[in-house]
Amino acid sequence: MTKTEELVSPAPTASDRIRVLIADDQQDVREALRLLLKAEGFYTETANNPAAVLEALQSNEFDIILMDLNYQRDTTSGQEGMDLLSRVQAVDSKMPVVVMTAWGSVQLAVEAMRRGARDFIQKPWDNQRLLSIIRTQVDLHRIIRRAERLEAENNLLRAQNRPVFIAESKAMQPLLTLLSRIGPSDANVLITGEHGTGKEVVAQTLHVLSPRASRPMITVNTGGLPEGTFESELFGHVKGAFTDARVDRVGRFELADHGTLFLDEIANVPLKQQAKLLRVLETGEMERVGSSKTRKVDVRVLSATNADLKQESAEGRFRSDLLFRLNTVELHIPPLRERREDIPLLAAHFLKIYAERYRKHISGFETAAMQRMLEHLWPGNVRELDHAVERAVLISMGEQIQASDLGLETDKGSSAKIEDMSLEEVEYLLIKKALARHSGNISHAAEALGLSRSALYRRMEKYGL
Ligand SMILES: Nc1ncnc2c1ncn2[C@@H]1O[C@H](COP(=O)(O)OP(=O)(O)OP(=O)(O)O)[C@@H](O)[C@H]1O
Ligand SMILES: [Mg+2]
Repeated sequence: MTKTEELVSPAPTASDRIRVLIADDQQDVREALRLLLKAEGFYTETANNPAAVLEALQSNEFDIILMDLNYQRDTTSGQEGMDLLSRVQAVDSKMPVVVMTAWGSVQLAVEAMRRGARDFIQKPWDNQRLLSIIRTQVDLHRIIRRAERLEAENNLLRAQNRPVFIAESKAMQPLLTLLSRIGPSDANVLITGEHGTGKEVVAQTLHVLSPRASRPMITVNTGGLPEGTFESELFGHVKGAFTDARVDRVGRFELADHGTLFLDEIANVPLKQQAKLLRVLETGEMERVGSSKTRKVDVRVLSATNADLKQESAEGRFRSDLLFRLNTVELHIPPLRERREDIPLLAAHFLKIYAERYRKHISGFETAAMQRMLEHLWPGNVRELDHAVERAVLISMGEQIQASDLGLETDKGSSAKIEDMSLEEVEYLLIKKALARHSGNISHAAEALGLSRSALYRRMEKYGL
């Protein structure tokens, strides 16, 4: 066992099998190499001219190329081989290439190494030396690739502030139970909820709870992709696939391989592209735009929307088969106005963040400020609360946030148009007004609203009044 081999544990599996592309114009050379490598358990393919080499690279993955420098056209200058070397590097700059030269043409071999070949071997070759070169180069290549991947992952984890998910209210308990049950699974999850309810935080939490947590979660705002870039973003493209495709590009599905892909604003994906998504979700297979090479990806898909996808599907705007793939489990996040108990916790959380960020010594909220926050309807949900606290921290002059610092109107809705409000918001507003008019007398307020006392009580409890 060579030193490098010890570094790449564990024992080889089928996918660890070394894959060699043999490029030589001479049939007997190809055959001899093929037999030698096959006997070692390597996977091999052969190519007898430069075009065939490039073709093979497009349709299959290799760990290394054994490349003759001379092909039919002229048999000694090695020019064709040098050209081929740079074309291979253009496709995959990191692909290890070992060149084969005729006995006595060391000059050529040196030139190839200068241009990036990893090693060379002279014909007729020594079997043991050839095998040892291949193993060393492949091991090295795999170690480098693995280190690069780990580095990228670590950077991602460092950049990704681990998600903070605050949910103490009763309304959030079913969601928390579901999170802990399905977090560790591979189930595709559809996260629904109004704007700013925390769909992205829930997606991050699901990812962190899963065995895929050490791999990246890749987010795509499917709603925000300019027309025409959808496929290239998700599946990648190959150089030359279209006018602007100057280099190969890896798509989000491939980036998320073995990790999680978060498709945000999923309802905005046009029908035509929904079909493309459906295929990769069903088969795990995809092609980069402009390439016929099918690639397998292992991706857990989380998606989010504030639309009602069942409704969208009933009205023909969203494919029901795609919906079925996406919502193996559906997680609904209730709006903030239905979980007012969370408001003080969330507010304190944001206060801490912003007081630190803006270097302010603020210890908390005045009672009136807290009262104001508890009463507000929060149509923008947690994000609106976040922004309100940030603003308050910025303009606060004292030890505590005052109600006026929050910039929330006293009577929500009095300025908002009724058409823009939900039924619940209107209900909340009417109840509040009735209570104010009757000075908190519940019997009178209930009578004015045409409700029984207990029905009013239930609603007051629901709205935290
Ligand atoms: N439960 C929570 N605990 C802590 N922070 C939260 C919570 N929910 C939301 N937030 C914060 O509120 C903001 C909005 O959350 P997020 O972006 O996840 O909402 P969203 O549902 O994806 O919104 P949109 O529909 O507009 O995309 C973020 O800054 C997020 O960190
Ligand atoms: Mg979001």
